[in-house]
Amino acid sequence: MENRRIAVLLSGRGSNFVAIHDAIRRGDLRAEICCVISNVTDAAGLSRASEFGLTAVCLPSRGTERTEYDRMLVKTLRSFDPALVCLAGFMRILSPEILKEYTGRVLNIHPALLPSFPGLHAQRQALQYGVKISGCTVHIADEGVDTGPILLQRAVEVLEGDTEETLSARILEQEHQIYWRAIDLMLALISAAET
Ligand code: GRF
Repeated sequence: MENRRIAVLLSGRGSNFVAIHDAIRRGDLRAEICCVISNVTDAAGLSRASEFGLTAVCLPSRGTERTEYDRMLVKTLRSFDPALVCLAGFMRILSPEILKEYTGRVLNIHPALLPSFPGLHAQRQALQYGVKISGCTVHIADEGVDTGPILLQRAVEVLEGDTEETLSARILEQEHQIYWRAIDLMLALISAAET
């Protein structure tokens, strides 16, 4: 049986998660969200997951050492057997624990055209640098911060008078367009490799 289960990991508002969920509901993405896991107890994305009737798991990270936390995360993920682990605003650096278990199967979305502007406040970094084009990237995560093979990107023009908020909002619209498409692509690649 083809495994099209995806696990979503988030820490905040969860708009990318909702966009993925919407794509599945519309029938544009053939996948099943097997669990939504958050390291932040009151993450809005986690409440949305419960409202949608999905399995929402809170695994608080505060006060837990990174390797130990990631071991717990792997244990939790295993019980859902996801084909892909999708980071959607998951504000933690992954330890090798997860990447070993899900090599080449952890995706991340970043609000800049990588390899430019990795790390926090990517949109602010882009504005401060003065680039005329920024955008967003979905890539396969490796042990670096926002590094790993790129799957999809969308360019977004930086407009005269853009603030961090206005630029972020236009980039976010594009994030919502590319994440589910990248998931679709990866699920097809995994399935082709298995047959
Ligand atoms: C997005 O900008 C994403 O690119 C970054 O974190 C933000 C998460 O937003 N990794 P949301 O929680 O999906 O709304």
